Amino acid sequence: MEAVAQGGWLEVITGCMFSGKTEELVRRLRRAVIAKKATIAFKPGIDTRYDAMAVVSHSGFSFNAVPIDNPVALLRRIEDAEVVGIDEAQFFSPEIVDVVKELTRRGKRVIVAGLDLDFRGEPFGSMPVLMALADEITKLHAICTVCGNIATKTQRLIDGRPARYDDPVILVGGLESYEARCNIHHEVPGKTLKLFKE
Ligand code: TMP
Ligand code: MG
Repeated sequence: MEAVAQGGWLEVITGCMFSGKTEELVRRLRRAVIAKKATIAFKPGIDTRYDAMAVVSHSGFSFNAVPIDNPVALLRRIEDAEVVGIDEAQFFSPEIVDVVKELTRRGKRVIVAGLDLDFRGEPFGSMPVLMALADEITKLHAICTVCGNIATKTQRLIDGRPARYDDPVILVGGLESYEARCNIHHEVPGKTLKLFKE
């Protein structure tokens, strides 16, 4: 049974690409609408995949969303919303943390979705902080495209080859550039751990 939160409440939905984060965010937002809660969703302007004005999952689930570039602008747009959804939170500048804190302080239910790790397997943007602050975290898994086991990592492929560790972190895309992989099949050429460097 879903817990009923009192006052502000922060939920984080995270995991690798193709794990169903946006689908789960949309599911929760639709349920909030059924419960007659004033509901609004935001996404970073950078993410124009599928639709500029909606959060859309790889499988086609969607919910209208306001594209914003600066997280502080979000505070000016929430009006009387009781439930606030934020997709692709890893792309927002660090101000997103204070914006989310302010929303919960104002008593909102905030549902944040985003990638925990980038293609290198390193924590992505403000997601680690948002996960630490969360009242509730859902970490979703995908299926490894190589072996069919549980996938927790995102493989970036450039011309069919694993992207190198020093490639730029941001590359908006979907199936043409990314696959879900398990820990065994996740490859990042050039990745070393500082502690064990010669
Ligand atoms: P998704 O989590 O909804 O599948 O979308 C993740 C977005 O993040 C997608 O546009 C690809 C992008 N991305 C990066 O920019 N860098 C990365 O390292 C990874 C894994 C994804
Ligand atoms: Mg998504």
